[in-house]
Amino acid sequence: MSAAPVIAIDGPSGAGKGTVSRGVARRLGFRLLDSGALYRLVALAARQDGIDLADGPALARLAAGLDIRFGSAEGGRVAIWLGGREVATAIRTELAGNDASRVAAIGQVRSALLDRQRRFAVPPGLVADGRDMGSVVFPDARVKIFLTASAAERAARRHKQLKEQGVTANLAALSLEIAERDLRDSTRAASPLVASADATRVDTTGIPVEAVVERILQVAHGRL
Ligand code: DC
Repeated sequence: MSAAPVIAIDGPSGAGKGTVSRGVARRLGFRLLDSGALYRLVALAARQDGIDLADGPALARLAAGLDIRFGSAEGGRVAIWLGGREVATAIRTELAGNDASRVAAIGQVRSALLDRQRRFAVPPGLVADGRDMGSVVFPDARVKIFLTASAAERAARRHKQLKEQGVTANLAALSLEIAERDLRDSTRAASPLVASADATRVDTTGIPVEAVVERILQVAHGRL
């Protein structure tokens, strides 16, 4: 059993999990776990150390020993330290996302990160964002949400996000990349992206973030 109430928010890339999870955590004063960042950090560290992204045992050792700290930077931005280096921006590239999806398909890496993720569940509570939060990491979560959006909208959101960061991207190429990543995340043997039978599906297509946050708070009402 988790030491504190958990709201698990799972779903495919670009469904809005990050923004929505931050909003829900802020409203409830809960802690936030961005589990995707952990897989991105493992992949980034592996690239730095020259570890093959298919070498399960080496990646699992790396994942178990990583020195990771989450904090906040100016303007309410999230800061993430890998050892002494601040990498919040470095892990957000498309390459880092694809690398993360590759290392995340390896069961040994997932096992190595399990306890680290569970330790985030401290009072007054946790909002956990990922692919297997409700199915594997926090099966006893009080609230399980499966966030979706149409493939076109997910690609368009990612495109807008990259543009805001000053990165030029091609919408058609992005759509393909997202589809490829979703397919890998959903069809892998180890903890694939699935909606738990007890999860509430929330489709965010065309719905503003604040409304999605309200909807989740409504679902959570009386369960925390
Ligand atoms: O949410 P994200 O895009 O930052 O996640 C990056 C990759 O990590 C994603 O393609 C799948 C993987 N991931 C995972 O397998 N399990 C999680 N709980 C979170 C992310």
